[in-house]
Amino acid sequence: MLESNYWRGNFCIEVSPAPGTLVIFGASGDLAKRKLYPALFHLFRRGLMHEESRIVGCARTAYSDDAFREHIRPELAGGSESQVNDFLKRVYYHAGDYFAPEFYGSLGRRLDDLERGCELPANRTIYLAMPAKLYPPILENLSNAGLLTEPEDGSSWRHVVLEKPFGRDFDSAEALDLQLHRYLKEDQIYRIDHYLGKDTVQNILMLRFANLIFEPVWNAHYIDHVQLTVAETLGVEHRAGYYEQAGLLRDMFQNHMLEMLAMAAMEMPASFSPDAVRDEKVKLIRSIRPFDLAHLGESVVRGQYAGYRSEPGVAPDSTIETFVAARFMIDNWRWKGVPFYLRSGKKLAARKSEIAIVFKHVPHSIFTPIRAADMQPDTLVLKVQPDEGMELTIQAKQPGPKLCMGGLSLNFRYSELPGGESFEAYERLLLDAMLGDQTLFIRSDVIAESWKLFTPVLENWGEQCPLAVYAPGTDGPEESFRLLFRDDREWRPLTPEL
Ligand code: BG6
Repeated sequence: MLESNYWRGNFCIEVSPAPGTLVIFGASGDLAKRKLYPALFHLFRRGLMHEESRIVGCARTAYSDDAFREHIRPELAGGSESQVNDFLKRVYYHAGDYFAPEFYGSLGRRLDDLERGCELPANRTIYLAMPAKLYPPILENLSNAGLLTEPEDGSSWRHVVLEKPFGRDFDSAEALDLQLHRYLKEDQIYRIDHYLGKDTVQNILMLRFANLIFEPVWNAHYIDHVQLTVAETLGVEHRAGYYEQAGLLRDMFQNHMLEMLAMAAMEMPASFSPDAVRDEKVKLIRSIRPFDLAHLGESVVRGQYAGYRSEPGVAPDSTIETFVAARFMIDNWRWKGVPFYLRSGKKLAARKSEIAIVFKHVPHSIFTPIRAADMQPDTLVLKVQPDEGMELTIQAKQPGPKLCMGGLSLNFRYSELPGGESFEAYERLLLDAMLGDQTLFIRSDVIAESWKLFTPVLENWGEQCPLAVYAPGTDGPEESFRLLFRDDREWRPLTPEL
């Protein structure tokens, strides 16, 4: 490895949000405990939560403010006791029934009181950390209680943060969108895709648009194909209830995978403003060639890990997929003829998320007898997780008297950067929601376009893409390898080759 990890920070913008209140619905739930409180506490410790800001948890369970503070205390790791206490002083709790209009009236009064008490502006970020089917009734009640209305003079704002799933096909997504827009303007809606909160995913844009050297080769003239992998070692765990309704295509492709594909392949936005970035993303997604429904089996592979049907909560004859591999083609000048192979699965050989840009072979080799086609193609790997960073593999001479050539890896690891403090995806996204920066949140048109692409697949793949069973701990089903063999290519192994 080259010792190249040298960080010369020359440009840094860190903005703290204005004071406000974060209202968390689903405050005693799993997401809030595992992700939101630790993230908020970290923001607080870093001075990225305003001193005057408050957090109000809402759920059905009856807690006093103090009891709730003790309930979340164990989730606040990494700080001193006095920091924990300082943070908890800013936490309140309001119990109630989500379906009862009175609850929203009393919540409104509670928020008004809190804001008056601390002279807070009525900037409110409402996080719905709960199942999507509850969004419409909650939003309707919030709206009826006047809790979503922003003052016309722009003196304060109301943002609503939502978690996926945003529909399960085109029609349901459109219906949900209509509901959301009955109560909210698009610029109040913050749809989370937690992959966009990962530094390494954001770095795709820096890499592509803040460097000169990549853009000239970032196209069909130089790139042979792209492999995008999100592999997990975990199975469905305790989420069978959700997963049996979703499956991998809905759970990973429609959101995380497509967002990453868009960031790797989109054109340069006119600026780094939220809408300029999201305009380019949606344009790219619109350029993806619809799957050929008459020959779906040639471009999509569906798999299920052996043993999935015996997991608690899974139907014994379940046909839900835990693995998908697919070939995407993008019909525009930049990517004409360049396949993008995407795969994701549970219970695979390794936990690994990466985007590998595989370049073409050199047109001619002067290093006879080594032929151009025998040389390993240069490959740039954007490592999303774990081992976050980047690796460029190039051809180089091996030291010594002989003519020996081989792949040389130039590696950059985020973990080796001095002072590089890791920032959890949820921290970044919560911060942005409080700052009113929608760049990393999914816009309504992206959701619609992604469902346009995947709904026909979901409706037609039953017969054409038979469920291929794969052994846990492998790189997925044989059929996935065949998808690439057919194109004379192969997947990068999930675990290093010995
Ligand atoms: C979630 C999916 O969105 O992403 C899960 O619902 C998946 O099924 C998870 O396990 C993967 O996220 P990460 O950040 O662990 O790669």
